[in-house]
Amino acid sequence: MTRRIAVVAAGLGQPSSTRLLADQLAAATVRALGNSAVQVVELREHAHALVDNMLTGFPAQDLGRAIDAVVRADGLIVVTPIFNASYSGLFKSFFDVLEPESLEGKPVLIGATGGTARHSLAIDHAVRPMFSYLRAAPVPTGVFAATADWGDADSGLTGRIDRAAGELANAIAGRQNSGPVDPFENPVSFEELLAR
Ligand SMILES: Cc1cc2nc3c(=O)[nH]c(=O)nc-3n(C[C@H](O)[C@H](O)[C@H](O)COP(=O)(O)O)c2cc1C
Repeated sequence: MTRRIAVVAAGLGQPSSTRLLADQLAAATVRALGNSAVQVVELREHAHALVDNMLTGFPAQDLGRAIDAVVRADGLIVVTPIFNASYSGLFKSFFDVLEPESLEGKPVLIGATGGTARHSLAIDHAVRPMFSYLRAAPVPTGVFAATADWGDADSGLTGRIDRAAGELANAIAGRQNSGPVDPFENPVSFEELLAR
């Protein structure tokens, strides 16, 4: 069975260190999991559509497709740049427009990039609580990559990536994805409604 992995990258730069970390996390997850298909959602491409969605309540077509890929995935990799010691506004906006229960039980690997390793705990004090609130299932290891980690063979970044990817692969393999909740799947019959 092919497992679907959706990757949400919220970097603004081009090239983007956030996208680089997202790609490395995805590659490591595919290595650990085997048969899997990866779909990347670059949020900067949906920035205007996200604001429109917040104002109108409806996603434009491309954003709708991106949301669909995320809610139908067997597992998620989410990577935000750290802005002012927390997730970026663009990252938060994407999760703000999702239906409230659409990530329930979904395994999530959290990654973040930043200028300084001193802000690595933003993963645990800011990003993880949001996914807990959404009743997703974040894996224990979050991966923070500071500017100094890139190109430093002793930074331990590769080990952190492999460890977190292994946790995500295990969580995906152990889970039967039921997909998004379909409110019309088991409708209450009229007889039952009248009897109440
Ligand atoms: C407005 C702003 C605020 C930032 N605040 C922080 C911060 O609090 N801590 C930190 O480590 N880096 C901070 N940074 C640096 C970014 O997190 C870093 O440049 C990021 O990895 C860039 O990602 P990208 O290359 O994918 O766009 C900030 C950058 C910007 C533009």
